[in-house]
Amino acid sequence: MKTLILSFLRANPDNYVSGEQISEHLGVSRTAIWKHIKALKAEGYAIDSVNNKGYRLISDTDEINRSSLESVINQYSFLDFGRYHTSIDSTNSEAKRLAIDGDLQGIVVAGEQTRGKGRLGREWASEKDTGLWMSLLLRPNLNPEVVSAITLVAAAAMTEAVEALANVKVGIKWPNDLVVNGKKICGILTEMSAEINRLHYIVIGIGVNVAQLHFPEELSAKATSLKLEGVSLSPKNLLERFLEAFARCYGEFLNSEMSRIIDFHKSHSVTLGKDVKLVTPTTERMAYAVDINEDGSLTVQNESGHLEKIFTGEVSVRGIDQYV
Ligand code: BTN
Repeated sequence: MKTLILSFLRANPDNYVSGEQISEHLGVSRTAIWKHIKALKAEGYAIDSVNNKGYRLISDTDEINRSSLESVINQYSFLDFGRYHTSIDSTNSEAKRLAIDGDLQGIVVAGEQTRGKGRLGREWASEKDTGLWMSLLLRPNLNPEVVSAITLVAAAAMTEAVEALANVKVGIKWPNDLVVNGKKICGILTEMSAEINRLHYIVIGIGVNVAQLHFPEELSAKATSLKLEGVSLSPKNLLERFLEAFARCYGEFLNSEMSRIIDFHKSHSVTLGKDVKLVTPTTERMAYAVDINEDGSLTVQNESGHLEKIFTGEVSVRGIDQYV
């Protein structure tokens, strides 16, 4: 109900709306409206209440919380739910728990993760209120083979969102690390559940370092936060802009129209035109990054001069003597 009241106030930014109007519109009593408004104020929404005039939303809270998340996700038909947790083990783990029953799609966001997961079994530090930690649970009707390119879709959308909100140039280290000034600000961990030819669900976990001021010594050469790079932005605005961009990019992906997204990757790539190391758990070899293809794969020239296609998840592509 709070979310509906908020949407109603948002739809009338310039006028006071009376308790009576809201109660008629939503079919609940004026006392109930008053209680919900009080709760919204406690959550940080600046709502002006004037006798005989009603209520007006002066400014939205900058925080992500249950009701602000719900009113954001209501705008997207591909999201059935939005769950906010002040603290959770991992938003990816929670999205996978939610995936087991039912057929809903949605988003899980957390203020902190106590067991944040990175790629290759690594830990992802996700301290309280320092970043945007979230996971999308999606069930596209696609063959598992083509699904790995979705991580490029998410990377493009997050890059677009950061650049729209801040005057900063974001690079993409193929396939999905976002980089500012040569250091990583965002990582994406995509997990899926599938049979050989039938996808059950995918979970796209995205972690953006927004406001950390320190990184452990072993990470400080390759990781940074937007704040450390001189960019201040609110995780809530970032989430909103991301979803706006993701909705568009995801629609293109589902329609097999990847050319704009691939062009975007090429123009933001910090991998193309560089010598790279291709690393698997058991091998390591050098190659030269040549091109990004429509299916999201990377074409490299190997040491024998032959061109090879590398698919996401197969190998880890590293810089030669620095992170990018
Ligand atoms: C990487 O190693 O680059 C991927 C990092 C992904 C981190 C995000 S934070 C939100 C989501 N929940 C997790 O446990 N991991 C992902």
